[in-house]
Amino acid sequence: MNLILLGAPGAGKGTQAELLAKRLDIPTISTGNCLREAVAAGTPLGLQAKTAMETGKLVPDDVVNGIVKERLAQDDCRKGFILDGFPRTIPQAEYLEKMGVRIDYVIDLEVPDDVIEPRMTGRRVCEKCGAPYHISRYKETTCAKCGGKLAPRADDKPETVRDRLRIYHEQTEPLKDYYGKAGTLRAIDGNREVPEISRQIIEAVEA
Ligand code: AP5
Repeated sequence: MNLILLGAPGAGKGTQAELLAKRLDIPTISTGNCLREAVAAGTPLGLQAKTAMETGKLVPDDVVNGIVKERLAQDDCRKGFILDGFPRTIPQAEYLEKMGVRIDYVIDLEVPDDVIEPRMTGRRVCEKCGAPYHISRYKETTCAKCGGKLAPRADDKPETVRDRLRIYHEQTEPLKDYYGKAGTLRAIDGNREVPEISRQIIEAVEA
C-alpha cells in the first residue's frame, strides 16, 4: 500500500507514520528526517537545506524531489511506503504523478493551529533516530528505541512555528483539494489521543 501523510507541522505525521509502518510492515520516508540527517552530516545537500529549515521555510522542490526519487527506487519500497511530509507543494505532487507513482490513500491529519504550538514547543526528538516524544507524556531524556539523546528541534521555536503554519496554509493545504479531486483523500481528526487517531487511520486504509 502506498500512502501519503498530509498535515500541518506538528499534526502528528511522524508519530502516526511510525505506528502505521509497524502495522503495515512498510517503510516510512520522511523528507524532514532525510534533510535533518544531511544537515547533521554537513553534506552539500544539507548546507543547501539548513537555512530554509531553521527559518521554517520550504526547501526547494527539486531538492526534495531528488531525495524522494532516490529513496523510492530502493527495494524495500516495492511492497509499499508511507510518505511523511511529501509532497508539500502542488509541483511536488505533480512530480510524483509524472514519475508514475500510484498513491492509494492520502491521510489528512486535521489539527487546529492553536493546538499545534504547545505540541511543538514540548516536542523532543531523538538526535540519533529522529523518533518524536512530548514532554507531557515522556519524562526520560533518552530515546526508548535506540538510547539516543533527546533534544528540542531547531525549528520548534514559537516564532518559527508560526511561520511554518503560515507556509503550510499557503503552499501545502491546496493539496487537500488536489487529492480530494483524485478521490484518495481521507480526512482524520488529529486532535485526539494518539491510539484513537491510529485506529481511525487503520480503519480508513483497511476499509
Ligand atoms: P518535517 O520534519 O517534515 O516537519 P513538519 O512537517 O513541519 O512536521 P513535524 O515533524 O514538525 O510534525 P509532525 O506532523 O511529524 O508531528 P509529530 O508526530 O512529530 O520538516 C521539517 C522541515 O524540512 C520543513 O519545515 C522544511 O523546511 C523541510 N521539508 C521537509 N519536507 C519538505 C518538503 N516536502 N518540501 C520542502 N521542504 C521540506 O508530533 C509533534 C509533537 O506532537 C510531538 O511532540 C508528538 O509527541 C506530539 N503529538 C503527536 N500526536 C499527538 C496527539 N495526538 N496529541 C498530542 N500530542 C501529539
